[in-house]
Amino acid sequence: MKRPVARFAGTGRYVPAKIVTNDDFARVLDTTDQWIRERSGIVERHIAADHETIAYMASEASRGAVADAGLTVDDVDAIVLATASWDRLLPSQACDVQAALGARNAAAFDVGAACSGFLYATTVAEGLIATGNAGTALVIGAERLTRIMDAQDRSTAILFGDGVGVGVLRPADDGRGILSTYLKSDGRLGDLLYRQGGGSLHPPSQAMLEDRSYFIKMAGREVFKSAVRSMADACDHALERAGLTGEDVDLLIPHQANVRIIEATAKHAHIPMDKVYVNVDRYGNTSAASIPMALDEAVRAGVVKPGMLVLLVAFGGGFTWASIAVRW
Ligand code: ACO
Repeated sequence: MKRPVARFAGTGRYVPAKIVTNDDFARVLDTTDQWIRERSGIVERHIAADHETIAYMASEASRGAVADAGLTVDDVDAIVLATASWDRLLPSQACDVQAALGARNAAAFDVGAACSGFLYATTVAEGLIATGNAGTALVIGAERLTRIMDAQDRSTAILFGDGVGVGVLRPADDGRGILSTYLKSDGRLGDLLYRQGGGSLHPPSQAMLEDRSYFIKMAGREVFKSAVRSMADACDHALERAGLTGEDVDLLIPHQANVRIIEATAKHAHIPMDKVYVNVDRYGNTSAASIPMALDEAVRAGVVKPGMLVLLVAFGGGFTWASIAVRW
């Protein structure tokens, strides 16, 4: 078992004020509150207003996280940002957040791993700290997915929400911090969850507007089955690498995509539901932002306490999956 080299020294989040309920969707789409609740566990989600760009939301959340760590933005050496819904495609989203934050001493770059992005970005930031390339790294999961969802597609439009979560990584002390990480991908499954239009393979065109290929497409049932399998695999590996079992876990914070996926993951890992943090009912699937938003919420509510063993687990497009075990 390796010794922790990095720990979470602070957390933050930004949640847009506007709430859209299932009944709001039922007024414009062929769906019902009951269907959405039963199939996904989602009741409502927050939607960003025009001024709530990712740069704006992420810089606000980062200010809170940096203050929580007892630091200033000048202390930030690295910004590692995970998203699938960039404000713009060039430069990186992290550089636009750096400018909005005024973190002039940082190196900034993006990590692309869809809903697993925060755990991938945390693992990269841990490496920057381990190699001495950063003393303070901001890890940001930020999404404004509702802008790239097809409002006419009931199978995806109802699932997603907007928001940002941030963790501040600093060198570990007194044995607390990241105990293990596990990352895995299977690019053969990329066509089950993708966004085609607007990239260099299919540059913007009139046809793209007509066939709506600039929106995210998802084969929900197949994604569901893979998510259950992969999140179980990720929990097993992160726990094994830390020399732990599910019985050692004080709190599981899973990616918040669907309460049925969360329940299946907890059952596999032998973690009772009263040790699982669930907020998908209030936020929907916020992709890369879901774990850091839940983590910040749990920390500020006193659900996560010093010394607890916290297991983070995610699954997303790619496909990608990941898990991190943390002694808080
Ligand atoms: N309202 C009513 N009916 C609907 C809706 C809706 N909003 N959406 C789909 N349906 C219908 C379907 O058309 C289908 O009808 P049919 O049987 O006549 O063909 C029926 O409901 C069942 O559809 P399924 O897709 O099989 O429903 P399922 O129980 O699988 O639930 C859901 C769908 C909620 C999308 C689920 O599959 C899921 O959560 N998948 C995983 C999504 C996920 O985890 N994504 C994470 C990664 S996201 C990322 O990386 C950005």
